[in-house]
Amino acid sequence: MATTAGRWWAPGRVNLIGEHTDYNEGYVLPLALPLGMTCTASARPDGMVRLRSRQAPLDEIDTTTAALATGGWSGLPGWTHYPLGVIREFERRGHEIPGVDLALDATVPIGAGLSSSAALSCAVAIALRDLFARSVTDAEIIDIARTAENVYVGVPTGILDQSAAMLCTAGHVLFLDTRTGAAEQIPFDLDAAGLSLLVLDTGSPHHLRDGEYARRRAECAAAAARLGVAFLRDLTDAAVADRLADPVLRRRARHVITENARVLQIAEQLRAGVDPRGIGPILTAGHASLRDDFEVSATPLDIAVEAALAADAYGARMTGGGFGGSVIALVDRDRVDAVREAVREAFVDKGFDAPRDFTVTPSVGAHRL
Ligand code: GLA
Repeated sequence: MATTAGRWWAPGRVNLIGEHTDYNEGYVLPLALPLGMTCTASARPDGMVRLRSRQAPLDEIDTTTAALATGGWSGLPGWTHYPLGVIREFERRGHEIPGVDLALDATVPIGAGLSSSAALSCAVAIALRDLFARSVTDAEIIDIARTAENVYVGVPTGILDQSAAMLCTAGHVLFLDTRTGAAEQIPFDLDAAGLSLLVLDTGSPHHLRDGEYARRRAECAAAAARLGVAFLRDLTDAAVADRLADPVLRRRARHVITENARVLQIAEQLRAGVDPRGIGPILTAGHASLRDDFEVSATPLDIAVEAALAADAYGARMTGGGFGGSVIALVDRDRVDAVREAVREAFVDKGFDAPRDFTVTPSVGAHRL
């Protein structure tokens, strides 16, 4: 019997390493959070789209697939563009949506750089697949969710977040080559090593939409063109970046080239099963590169990283697009409280509100509940 109603779930993510590499056709290494987005959905036959969100109780959206197809988006709150964009994208690809009720509920913090938006898009997309378009593959879901964000929200993101939501598995980091789509699940058992991955949500909202993300993307494309390659992924020697006369493009290229190398190095170490403490300095080097070369860090992120390292974290870095959001720190399990306290103190000292924090184990990807 066809599915007519149900509940679906997709996770947020932290990216262990591989930042701003995805739109350069490089490598990423995310893991799924146990926090995410639930979508309760039911089919309806009358062309109506009813959208509700527990986190935005005042936004009661009642529209139609026909209105969405003919540009009836004006006045709709920003967050609705993700789920409605997913509906439009199914239809644009020839999968008719006869009508649907969607109710959303998030456990992943919103605007914290933990991919609440990809969790939202993917939860809705797998619901629509099960209800109306069973032939759609995971790869298409990733593409639909990414296109919803690119076209209907207007941020030219890569494929990291949607891939993490769809492809991550419990107990693993996902090593993804964004050029070929080749995905490998690498075991990541911090518990067995007496370690924890602490996430510190600085509460400083990240704004991918204010144009800086798009500017970084354009700078990378310009650097690749001037260096005579299709994408920065094609370069492995960071010294090649020195050929760029423009100091900004030189720094951007250097970040991407060294970041891809860091992903490969960490993937190699985790595959070999060596003590994960060894990846700490590589994580920290990734932060320095994002701060100094890619220039997407922010003061609260730098404070959190420095305080965590001073309190004996093995490594720490911002995660996600940057300009705010969250930091991850690799710490001995019995040092979690000490690191958390040290970061809180540093924040209070500098006049910031203390971050929210939690520890994560790599969790399961998107699925029906
Ligand atoms: C955001 C984007 C991703 C990726 C990261 C940076 O999360 O959505 O595609 O570019 O920033 O690594």
